[in-house]
Amino acid sequence: MKKDIYIADDKILSDVLNKPQLNKDDIVYLLSLKDDKDISELFRKADSVRKEFCGDEVHLRGIIEFSNYCEADCVYCGLRKGNKQLDRYRMSVEEIIETAKHIHSAGIKTVVLQSGEDFYYRKEDITRIIKSIKDNCDVAITLSLGERSFEEYDEWKSAGADRYLLKHETANEKLYSALHSHQKLEERLAHLKYLKSIGFQVGSGNIIGLPGQTIEDIADDILLCKEIDCDMCSFSPFIPSKDTPLRKISKADLEFTLKTMAVARIVLKNTHIPSTTALGSLVENGREKGLEVGANVVMPNYTPNPYRQNYKIYEGKICISDDPLACAGCLRLKIEGMGRKVSEEKGHSLKRIKR
Ligand code: SAM
Ligand code: SF4
Ligand code: FES
Repeated sequence: MKKDIYIADDKILSDVLNKPQLNKDDIVYLLSLKDDKDISELFRKADSVRKEFCGDEVHLRGIIEFSNYCEADCVYCGLRKGNKQLDRYRMSVEEIIETAKHIHSAGIKTVVLQSGEDFYYRKEDITRIIKSIKDNCDVAITLSLGERSFEEYDEWKSAGADRYLLKHETANEKLYSALHSHQKLEERLAHLKYLKSIGFQVGSGNIIGLPGQTIEDIADDILLCKEIDCDMCSFSPFIPSKDTPLRKISKADLEFTLKTMAVARIVLKNTHIPSTTALGSLVENGREKGLEVGANVVMPNYTPNPYRQNYKIYEGKICISDDPLACAGCLRLKIEGMGRKVSEEKGHSLKRIKR
C-alpha cells in the first residue's frame, strides 16, 4: 500500500530496515527520520532485532563506583580533575569486596568496578580486589577504570577479570582532542584493541549531544563499534555537569538518543546494549524507553552511602539518594512489568557464547 511507504532522498524506509548491512548513508538517513510513524517503525524493527539476536532477557550489572578521584580532565565530566567543587571519596579495598558480596547475594551475576582514572589504586590493589571477588562470588567482573597500562590489563585479565568498559566517546578525532586535553582517539582505540587481543570482552560507545557533534559523527560512532567488534556498546545522552566547561550546553535530545540506540541495535545485532543511567536521568522512565528500542542491559547502582551522591558525573543523576540495595529490586519490577525477564546468567558476550 503506497501510503504506508515513506520516500525521502531516494530511500524507502522498509527497504533500508530490511537490508542485511547498513552503510553510513543508510544510518544517517535513519537517524534523520522525523515523521512519528517512521520513527515508530524504526523502533519496532530495533525491538524485533533485539528479540531475534538477544532474546527477551535483560542482564543486570551491579555497579560499584568506588572512587570519584580522576587524573583525567574530560571537559564533559563532573569527576574531571579540574573540578575543585566536588567532594572526593575513595572506598577501601575491603569495602569494595564487601559491596561485591552484596551484589552477589542479590542474585546479580556481574559486578562492575568503576572509578575515575585513579592511580591511587595500584595494579596490586585491583588484582587483590578481583581475586577476592572471584574466590568468594560466582560473578563476572567488568572493569571500568579508564586508560591504564597494558601491563596492568594483562595482570587483571590473568587475575580473573572478564570485561573492560572504555568508551571511545566520539569517533570524530578533532572533537575527541577538543574534549580531552591529554588524550587522543588513536590511543583510546589502541587500548580497546589491546584489551580485546588479550581476551577481555570489550565495551565501548559514545556520548550523544556533545557540542559540535553531527549526525554523521553518530553514524561513525555506530560503525566504529562494529569495526572494533565490541561485545557491549553504550550510547548515552550528554547531560551537563554544573562545574565543568560544558555546563551551559543543553542536554541531549531524548528522541535522537532513542533513534541512535535503535539504529545501533539494527547494525550491531548481537552486541549487548545498555539502557543507561544517563538515559534514566534524562527523563522519567528513560531506561524503560531504552529497553523498548533495542537495549538488553541495565546497571543497578550498588555504590554505598555516603559515597553515591558524590559520584556526580552530571546533574540530576537518578538513584543517588536511594537505599543502595533498592535499585536492583526496583529495576526487576520495571523489567518484569514490561513483560521481559531478568537473566539469571552472567550474560557474557553473545559473540563468544561459551567461555
Ligand atoms: N573514568 C572511566 C572512564 O572514563 O572510562 C569510568 C568512569 S566515567 C564517569 C564513565 C562514563 O561516563 C564515560 O565513559 C562517559 O561516557 C560518561 N560521562 C561522563 N560525563 C558525562 C556527561 N556529562 N553526560 C553523559 N555521560 C557522561
Ligand atoms: Fe575521569 Fe572518566 Fe570522567 Fe574522564 S569520563 S573525567 S576519565 S571519570
Ligand atoms: Fe535506583 Fe529505581 S533503579 S531506585
